[in-house]
Amino acid sequence: MFDIKKIREDFPILKRKVHGKTLVYFDSGATSQKPEVVIEAMNKYYRETNANIHRGVYEMSVESTRLVDEARAEVADLIGARNEEVIFTRNTSESINLVAYSWGEDNISTGDAVVITKLEHHSNMIPWQELCRKKGAELRVVDVNEKGELENNKEALILEENGLKVVVGGWNNLLDSRVKMVAFTGQSNVMGTEPPVKDIVEMVKRLSPEALILVDGAQMVPHMSVSVAKLGIDFLAFSGHKMLGPTGVGVLWGKKEVLNKMKPFLMGGDMIGEVKLTGATWAELPNKFEAGTPDITGIVGMGAAVKYLKAIGMENIHEYEKEILKYALEKMKGLEKEGLINLYGPEAENRGGAIPFNVVGVHAHDTAQILDNYGIAVRSGHHCAAPLVASFNVPAMVRATFYLYNTREEIDYFIEKIREVPKVFA
Ligand SMILES: Cc1ncc(COP(=O)(O)O)c(C=O)c1O
Repeated sequence: MFDIKKIREDFPILKRKVHGKTLVYFDSGATSQKPEVVIEAMNKYYRETNANIHRGVYEMSVESTRLVDEARAEVADLIGARNEEVIFTRNTSESINLVAYSWGEDNISTGDAVVITKLEHHSNMIPWQELCRKKGAELRVVDVNEKGELENNKEALILEENGLKVVVGGWNNLLDSRVKMVAFTGQSNVMGTEPPVKDIVEMVKRLSPEALILVDGAQMVPHMSVSVAKLGIDFLAFSGHKMLGPTGVGVLWGKKEVLNKMKPFLMGGDMIGEVKLTGATWAELPNKFEAGTPDITGIVGMGAAVKYLKAIGMENIHEYEKEILKYALEKMKGLEKEGLINLYGPEAENRGGAIPFNVVGVHAHDTAQILDNYGIAVRSGHHCAAPLVASFNVPAMVRATFYLYNTREEIDYFIEKIREVPKVFA
């Protein structure tokens, strides 16, 4: 059962005051808060175990290695993967860069095409822009409609600048046999849009049979049940800090056959098999992609976070978030009807818990600052998706994002305080 009262008790920060008001944290899309079990797992590790992994035969080092292995197994189980396919990185950005460099350098050449979407966070846009520019490949971008949903059929528009050709259009105009990589988000961090991943995968396999598929799961894995095998994708990238874990740890999941063919991304300790002065061989997965001492404490924390999420159940979390999203969206629509705000993004059925909006006539940063005075933390700006926000003809948006610890009461308070914003400027 989803016991929201008990869940909130698990997050000590939710008791803190901001400007004398109880915190209402609506910025989990940027980073989530951490439950006591995660904080405690990391403290305990430093107090009782701290030792480098893989390198020692002494008890603490062996214990440390075991804790990292256990965390990897938790993550693998969460996404239905094999342990050795889970690579610990620093964050989603590093995971995507790993693929763009290690796979991209050897597999993309002049005449090839990479497909992304306009919904992408800069993390899943710029690595591909730079790869395509360097290789003389074409970057193809699936456009969005006025609701922030991906277009299937839209006439292609060609942009050419600084040695990069970009084709913007609908899925049907962009997928063909020249496409070698399709990289798209599982949930937009701005609009909340949840693209139909399975349908897209099926379409890519039909129209671009040579293409590999990468899903940016930064906003997907924390909020719903994900099985990489069922999705039929090749790579999944996500960050621990957006799913109750600490900052500093991310994951790249890749299909074993694909990862085995890729060269390492970073070189150094722990990723080698045999080393001579004239060269080296590479370690087996996952070590091949984990050069140097990882964020061991962070990995332990992430393992604890995954355990916590699994105990509540990803399905339950998803269902609860959908409920509060629907509740918030209805109320926000009311404000829109009154002419108080402009609301962006799809209907509740096609989106997760992110709501972007602007108070009419008020800059997003001003709105966010006024709400902060009431203890409400929301983000404002381009949300690291500048081309997407620009296509709605606004310089910035305010964004409220929800997670398992948010409540209807917080939403009521938020709505009440949005009403105060225009009054400040009256
Ligand atoms: C959809 C999406 N992709 C990628 C990222 C980048 O994540 P990180 O900063 O942890 O690398 C974010 C962060 O907000 C995101 O929302």
